[in-house]
Amino acid sequence: MRLRFEQWRDFLDIDADSINTLREFSGLIRPHMDTLMDAVYAYIQANTAASATFADAAALQRARTHQQHHWQEHVFAGNFNQHYLEATLAIGHTHQRLGVDLRFYSGAYVVVLNQVVQLLDQLVQDGATRSRYLTAINRAVFLDMGLATYAYYDTLLNALEDMAQEVTLSLARAGEYRDNETGKHITRMSKMCEQMALALGKDATWAHALRMASPLHDVGKIGVPDRILLKPGRLDEAEFQIMREHPRIGGTIIPEHPALVIRMARRIALTHHEKWDGSGYPAGLCGEEIPLEGRIAAICDVYDALVSARPYKPAWTQQAALDYLQQESGYHFDPQLVQTFLRIVPEIQSIQSRYAEDPC
Ligand SMILES: [Fe+2]
Ligand SMILES: [Fe+2]
Repeated sequence: MRLRFEQWRDFLDIDADSINTLREFSGLIRPHMDTLMDAVYAYIQANTAASATFADAAALQRARTHQQHHWQEHVFAGNFNQHYLEATLAIGHTHQRLGVDLRFYSGAYVVVLNQVVQLLDQLVQDGATRSRYLTAINRAVFLDMGLATYAYYDTLLNALEDMAQEVTLSLARAGEYRDNETGKHITRMSKMCEQMALALGKDATWAHALRMASPLHDVGKIGVPDRILLKPGRLDEAEFQIMREHPRIGGTIIPEHPALVIRMARRIALTHHEKWDGSGYPAGLCGEEIPLEGRIAAICDVYDALVSARPYKPAWTQQAALDYLQQESGYHFDPQLVQTFLRIVPEIQSIQSRYAEDPC
């Protein structure tokens, strides 16, 4: 789940005394920042892997200027404002993008702290003042390290999540590609599922996972032979029997895995043709035996299929499709979920128009 910027504010847990002390200290350190930066960049340049992350001398200089500003104007000045948060986020992102090992950032901070201790020994005679400064600096440094690390992993998680989403969608497209459905069906259907989850009071993580997982509902169709999947006319009973295997096939394609999205995707693939009254397939599950995600996917999948034109049928009107959901409430669909769907018709409509099929 992506970390929201607002959540970062929780990290800004530093007391007013420390902030005041840092403001005092910033005046003291300002004339010595060049010396301090020289020591930090000597450390970086002495390390082959650390210096290799900078393309050239200009990039190194830019990083130095940026970092100096960050320490001088924010960390050592107790200036933890919105701009500081954005800059820290940017530093974490840049480090992740450039492949900077986080150990170099903490290593640089060890150098900084050593420099600060040396400077304080030279500049401040009174031991109590020195230790007051050092305490405040330690707090600020830990805060900053924590935030930069947080931003680093935030970027990494976002990149992994994007990749997982791409892989999920590719697999889903492979499933839909052989069918009469389009890529936009899975986009619309998955966004409708997400809206349903939010309307049911599920948290954003669950709703987002449902959006990522639901496109895989028909991945098992990969295992259905073309002569059945693409047959223009009605399927006979034997063919329908094979077609009804696609949920189970989906359940074998999607692995059993503890990750929420994968667990959900597997459950949806297995249960999106189950019916509330127990007359569905493949297991004939009944009522709440069908996992919630499967019950949500069933409604959104059927609704979107009804309002979409297919080679074998015209698109139904929205009203006709909503009437159908109501008719099937308590038979095919969970009645409470049908009510939820009816409550969010404006959101559903906006998804339909945003991801409408291209006219051909
Ligand atoms: Fe299906
Ligand atoms: Fe579908």
